[in-house]
Amino acid sequence: MRRVCVMLLLIAMAAGCGKKSPTAVKLEPKAFGAAVVEVSGGKQVAATGSPIEQPLVVQVNDAQGAAVAGALVSFRATGGVSVDPAEGLTGSDGQLSVNFVLGGVAGLYQIVATTRDKAGKAIELRSEEIALGYQQNLGRQLNERYCSRCHDAESTAERVSNRDNLKVPPHAFTDGAFLNNMSDTELANIITHGGPAYNKSAEMPPYGGTLQKSEIDALISFIRAVADPPYRTKGLVYAKN
Ligand code: HEC
Repeated sequence: MRRVCVMLLLIAMAAGCGKKSPTAVKLEPKAFGAAVVEVSGGKQVAATGSPIEQPLVVQVNDAQGAAVAGALVSFRATGGVSVDPAEGLTGSDGQLSVNFVLGGVAGLYQIVATTRDKAGKAIELRSEEIALGYQQNLGRQLNERYCSRCHDAESTAERVSNRDNLKVPPHAFTDGAFLNNMSDTELANIITHGGPAYNKSAEMPPYGGTLQKSEIDALISFIRAVADPPYRTKGLVYAKN
């Protein structure tokens, strides 16, 4: 009798283990869209191996461009990026947010959001984020301290942009179409000696007395890292997947 009881107990336990745990339940879409678009959070810059500051927010729309609630979106990324959540259903506003931690190598990372239409056809959105290596990240900090008030048109809570007050508007450091054509030496000279050294506006101050050469090099490596379109000879590009 006792042995039978033990047997029954073992069978019951085995059956229990076979059940799926609640977290492994597969998400089923409640609705289907025709497009997935980026709402915000693309092209962010963060140090390698660190989380991006703002979540990436995507939205699923129907063929008329109206938001679709309950659509299933899954995310994938290469290069050791961890994505959270890996999939989810869009909210009542048709949107879904995802957080991720960038990989350990400096370069451009691509995050792919996929949803499926009614027929099961995959619809993809590719967003990019930039991971900065040590030197590039040092350049980012120097930029925030010395340069962004004039070179960045956007005001933030911590910094009011001075860009609109300048007679000659400087280029944003993301402006690869312009800055990729300048050599490292040209950039270093303008930063060291100021605008007039290159027949440019005197509103671009000289930093040769303020910054060390290594700091100017860090600023240049930052400018190269955030260039859009990308600068040719920058580090690894995780754009293919
Ligand atoms: C007070 C405002 C101001 C600050 C601060 C400033 N710049 Fe500039 N910068 C300018 C202006 C104005 C120009 C445009 C000059 C022109 O085109 O005649 C410029 C031009 C440049 C250029 C040449 C490309 C371009 O946009 O025309 C580079 C490179 C540059 N700045 C780098 C820097 C760096 C790096 C820092 C921080 C260390 C910095 N700037 C800080 C105003 C500023």
